[in-house]
Amino acid sequence: MTEFSRRVEQVSISGIREVFEAAGEDAINLGLGQPDFPTPDHAREGAIDAIEGDKTDAYTSNKGTESLRTAIAEKHARDNDLDVDPENVIATAGGSEALHIAMEAHVDQGEEVIFPDPGFVSYDALTHLAGGDPNPVPLRDDLTLDPATVEEAITDDTAAFVVNSPANPTGAVQSTADMREFARIADEHDVLCISDEVYEHIVFEGEHRSPMEFAESDNVVVVNACSKTYSMTGWRLGWVTGSHERVERMLRVHQYVQACASAPAQYAAEAALSGPQDPVDEMVEAFEERRDVLVERFEEMGIDCPRPEGAFYAMPKVPDGWVDEVLDRGVVVVPGGAFGEHGEGYARISYAADLETIEEALDVMEAATEAVRS
Ligand SMILES: Cc1ncc(COP(=O)(O)O)c(C=O)c1O
Repeated sequence: MTEFSRRVEQVSISGIREVFEAAGEDAINLGLGQPDFPTPDHAREGAIDAIEGDKTDAYTSNKGTESLRTAIAEKHARDNDLDVDPENVIATAGGSEALHIAMEAHVDQGEEVIFPDPGFVSYDALTHLAGGDPNPVPLRDDLTLDPATVEEAITDDTAAFVVNSPANPTGAVQSTADMREFARIADEHDVLCISDEVYEHIVFEGEHRSPMEFAESDNVVVVNACSKTYSMTGWRLGWVTGSHERVERMLRVHQYVQACASAPAQYAAEAALSGPQDPVDEMVEAFEERRDVLVERFEEMGIDCPRPEGAFYAMPKVPDGWVDEVLDRGVVVVPGGAFGEHGEGYARISYAADLETIEEALDVMEAATEAVRS
């Protein structure tokens, strides 16, 4: 057999999948990274109307339809007070492709990419696939990323650093002051800040701010998606925005790996972004209620769980053997080590499940906690 590329040999299938495969069929799954809500009707109808109106049979423009990019620009004006030119938006196959083309366009062979550890699994893999060297950095005790840690990690070989707020796997939300600092670091050190904002709307305390609001240079690109906000993970629609020069380079990658995002998904996304936003508020309210239950129960169990302020994940610090004990008892949670070396000793719990299921799972976790402590 022929050899495989060195880049691909450095990447393995996510540890999260291994946990799913090990779990029994009737296990309670708190391992999933997607909301347990339906896609809003008006988004689905956007796609149906476009299909029935014969709008989805052909390629769209490489960047995506003008009407979708205008809806994305309006979203940035409405939510982030950012003046985004629709020409500087590329609609992608989810946030995943947006991250991929951002890395490919900016990271050279042997250059470093700094990202949070524990952090979303794609950052490490995409850095390798771009030929770069991952530089995962630890978090503060409250599981936020300290801008000072990022600044200290920057070397002459650093191409980019990734900020993810609200964060997967921690649920942590960076403060406005931190976001301002990330922008300053990108400006002063002339490195790219890739701001992954896919959980932007799922915030319970404080508010989401983007480093792009504060940067004085064009050294920030923003990755976002409809996946989490509108429970549209299956539609595969995200986007990336940045300066004209950066978008032009990312478009070169997008054009050859993707051509354009799926046309029906683009129409669904446009409808989601420009239609009523109440389904998002309802979902966020449900997540907050579940978060409160989880945090309270962990406190009762004597398990330290930094209070997640966003997304739909909690990341408690757990005793040795806890994850295996919980898995053996039929509840799927993901060991923190799947998200990086500094995630060891933690577990990621997704609360994208109804309250009754979460409470049932918490009873199992309580029993597992007693078992590993005895
Ligand atoms: C932090 C983060 N960024 C990006 C993505 C990719 O999302 P998408 O489904 O839009 O590709 C995910 C998905 O889990 C995520 O957690």
